[in-house]
Amino acid sequence: MAVGSKKTAVKKSAIKPVAKVAAARKPVAKKTTGKAGGKNANPLGLEKKLPGQFDTLQEIALAAYRKLPAPVWDHLMGGADSEMTLRRNRAGLDALALRQRVLVDVRNIDLSTTLLGQELAFPVFPAPVGGFLGKVHHEGGPAVARAADSRGTTAFIATAAKPSLEAAQQAVKRKLIFQLYVRGDRIWIEGILDRVRKAEYGALCVTVDRNFYGRRERDIVSGLPVKEGFGDQSFQASLNWKDLIWMKERVGLPLIAKGIATAEDAVLAVEHGADVVYVSNHGGRQLDHAQGSIEVLDEVVRAVAGRAEVLADGGVQRGTDVVKMLCLGAKAVGVGKLLGLSLSAGGEAGVARMLELMELEIRTALGLMGVTSIKQLGPQWLRAVPILGTPSSVSAYPLLEEAVRRNAR
Ligand SMILES: Cc1cc2nc3c(=O)[nH]c(=O)nc-3n(C[C@H](O)[C@H](O)[C@H](O)COP(=O)(O)O)c2cc1C
Repeated sequence: MAVGSKKTAVKKSAIKPVAKVAAARKPVAKKTTGKAGGKNANPLGLEKKLPGQFDTLQEIALAAYRKLPAPVWDHLMGGADSEMTLRRNRAGLDALALRQRVLVDVRNIDLSTTLLGQELAFPVFPAPVGGFLGKVHHEGGPAVARAADSRGTTAFIATAAKPSLEAAQQAVKRKLIFQLYVRGDRIWIEGILDRVRKAEYGALCVTVDRNFYGRRERDIVSGLPVKEGFGDQSFQASLNWKDLIWMKERVGLPLIAKGIATAEDAVLAVEHGADVVYVSNHGGRQLDHAQGSIEVLDEVVRAVAGRAEVLADGGVQRGTDVVKMLCLGAKAVGVGKLLGLSLSAGGEAGVARMLELMELEIRTALGLMGVTSIKQLGPQWLRAVPILGTPSSVSAYPLLEEAVRRNAR
């Protein structure tokens, strides 16, 4: 039986929106004078900053850390079992260095790309993060859709996103991508797919790496009332490749297969109608001891051999992470935890600012590498290097890592 179904599956009504949980707590500034943090626990004055004023991604993550109750933080930032996959996502990125060329005129740098024919101003998008959006924001899906649209990119909206799949797409003119979890029989799927088509989404993304619910032990131990998903999970567990063909036909939209981690499955995905192969291990929340996303990217790109577009996510927290994934053949890159952090820290404006800072980091990295267009990127820009430090979900942000180590909320 999948985890948490009895002991930790608490009624939906027991899930308090974070805003309410946070409101019940003392203001952050007063709280940080305690033993854990000392007088300087909040030296950046984050509590005074409006979301649009965050200067760094690190501040966004720190603000979220101070705002979120510990179990919700753990739910967002944790992974399955020993969290080896989660750490490998970062380790794989950290094991690559960027090469740089100098004396190139980099005043103009083109970051634009396309996804299924749709223009993206830069190659980053909010990945689907299910019901989490609704936990930390009263609006959820529409807020993320608007934030992405305001920065010229598109958002993936998960099946569990609140308030409804229709509300998210109605919030923006830009075509969004609907991400499907299968929680019912064919009639149930048909109902959802018909709604997706009617709502005028741009593509269907079927997540294929969640046939079982990963054992996220932080949630089990904290007792956070996180459901393992709505509806009947066994339908997801019984999915097979032919179902993809049927779903694509029914919805009449381009198909994205999310959660591909091998060359073999990349080939099968293309053969079963995938227009986009999305390399992902669910941010390390599903199979433990899997390979890091960036470690499998090259084999997937080779196997796809130009027959589909390739997206990727996993451990991406910096513009340089995005650049590395692009070098290995990803067309655009998703952020999951970082989306959750920015929505928690600053709502819609926080997500927009996160995307803006991501874009700034990518532009800065490319400028310093002597690259004027992401089209120039390729494996020749990368070198394998020894990893420094201990990769984790907070290791890309030294100030945050330090705050977490000191438990300085
Ligand atoms: C809180 C949370 C909820 C998620 N929910 C979903 C989901 O509903 N559907 C899905 O396909 N992936 C889901 N994911 C996985 C993300 O789409 C993405 O693959 C992953 O977070 C990328 O890794 P990163 O968090 O290191 O950026 C979720 C991730 C997080 C952190």
